[in-house]
Amino acid sequence: MLKPGKVAVDATLGNGNDTLFLAGLVGRDGRVYGFDIQPEAISRTAEAVAEKGFSDSVTLFLQGHEDMVKFVPEPVDAVVFNLGYLPGGNHSIVTTPETTVRAVTGALKLLKPGGLICIVVYTGHPGGPEEQFRLEACLSRLDKKDFCVGKIDYINRNNAPFLIVVEKALRG
Ligand SMILES: C[S@@+](CC[C@H](N)C(=O)[O-])C[C@H]1O[C@@H](n2cnc3c(N)ncnc32)[C@H](O)[C@@H]1O
Repeated sequence: MLKPGKVAVDATLGNGNDTLFLAGLVGRDGRVYGFDIQPEAISRTAEAVAEKGFSDSVTLFLQGHEDMVKFVPEPVDAVVFNLGYLPGGNHSIVTTPETTVRAVTGALKLLKPGGLICIVVYTGHPGGPEEQFRLEACLSRLDKKDFCVGKIDYINRNNAPFLIVVEKALRG
């Protein structure tokens, strides 16, 4: 669904892998907005984006994703969250239940009708299970006429990451 010219948000930049993927999909006529609270994530992503020639279509913010509605100036087609901590980075800098719920609530508002939010959730670190609980409690309250919320999970692995996908109804 992310075609050239579309608009996406990478809510957790980290090393910039997801931003590169999104920028490749939306192309030079599209836009990717990215958020992270670590300066290193911004510089690494900026470097990776420049190397691939995507700098003109990517806007990076050294800001918490919980404030994305203040910074993203247009409706978006997709928002991607890869929660938890950055592998190989500082494990104490981690997404939190409260800020994640605020960020997803903001993303729901920014989303165009027919748009998607993809959230990769990790539960193996301290705070992970609480983040899952708060997030699922928030998303389970969404009206099914407005949003379709699904979950893709392993059934033969413990503490494995899983994916939540939220689709905003077309009529919305
Ligand atoms: C699992 S990593 C993301 C990996 C990344 N998508 C990639 O492709 O490399 C999680 C990231 O979330 C960031 N983060 C934690 N709290 C945040 C917040 N409130 N707003 C934005 N980013 C946050 C961390 O700094 C970390 O870089």
